[in-house]
Amino acid sequence: MNFERHRRLRRTEFMRDMVRETKVSKDDLIYPIFVVESDDIKAEVPSMKGVFQISLNRLHEELEEVKAKGIKSVIFFGIPDEKDPEGHGAYHDHGVVQEACRISKKLYPEILVILDTCLCEYTDHGHCGLIDPKTQDVDNDSSLPLLVRTAVSQAKAGADIIAPSNMMDGFVAEIRKGLDDNGYSHIPIMSYGIKYASKFYGPFRDAADSTPSFGDRRTYQMDPANRLEAQRELASDLEEGCDMMIVKPALSYLDIIRDVRNETNIPVVAYNVSGEYAMTRTAVDMGLLDEAVIMEQMVSMKRAGANMIITYFAKDICRMLDEGME
Ligand code: PBG
Repeated sequence: MNFERHRRLRRTEFMRDMVRETKVSKDDLIYPIFVVESDDIKAEVPSMKGVFQISLNRLHEELEEVKAKGIKSVIFFGIPDEKDPEGHGAYHDHGVVQEACRISKKLYPEILVILDTCLCEYTDHGHCGLIDPKTQDVDNDSSLPLLVRTAVSQAKAGADIIAPSNMMDGFVAEIRKGLDDNGYSHIPIMSYGIKYASKFYGPFRDAADSTPSFGDRRTYQMDPANRLEAQRELASDLEEGCDMMIVKPALSYLDIIRDVRNETNIPVVAYNVSGEYAMTRTAVDMGLLDEAVIMEQMVSMKRAGANMIITYFAKDICRMLDEGME
């Protein structure tokens, strides 16, 4: 017989373990937490079973679980009591994520805290920046100073990493400068510069109450059909000084993750978004798919080139890893 014997390396469990090219570890995981400003709330997000909105005064419960499971990094999203056209809650020194960060740092200083720099959870219109009354579109340049204020107040609250998701042009450069000018040159920027205008964010917008009240985000987020455009976004973010790059969503965009991995040497982060979570969670809960598909999806994102994964499945993955699944 004259052919390759590929099956030689698949013969036993130990052999397969030895040649496995991609592994998921707890170090890779970033867990998103939705924090509510008002008291005494722990409410499951209807479209995201197993994910909760939790109030500041109960945040310790969630953090305790995160710590116990072995998750080392969290990203907070805020649900403020009040919203206004300028999104003041985003850059208030005692805003909801700033306070969540302080609580987390006090209870578990070692847990890495990432804060998302955007206005959409804080504006009454739900857009990621200020609205130009003439065009009814988000105005790029007047939004930037507010985003810089947001990032600086987040750093002041003790955030370890600033993750701007607003998709305004120039946000990395401006935020970098703002952080540097205020004594935070040591705080890295994890840029969401490659963010598509995706329908997979639907459940997040329910959870964070950030659905735009008019229009959509297509004048600032990217067209899902475009691959070269991602390279242009990447090039400008690198030039502006980002330290890590997020690709979002992840599973329908594995080609983009691979492109970014091949183009740069900075860490690449896959954002396994809410809609991806909802689809897989539902299929697993209904018994249509084996739970192991969750791990398979994580492995796929890492195989595509992601170093880290922001995922609502972080707790499940920790449990599966503890149970010996790879
Ligand atoms: C804020 C933001 C969004 C997500 C993360 N940061 C929503 C959006 O752009 O509408 C979505 C995350 C998810 O779907 O899990 N701009």
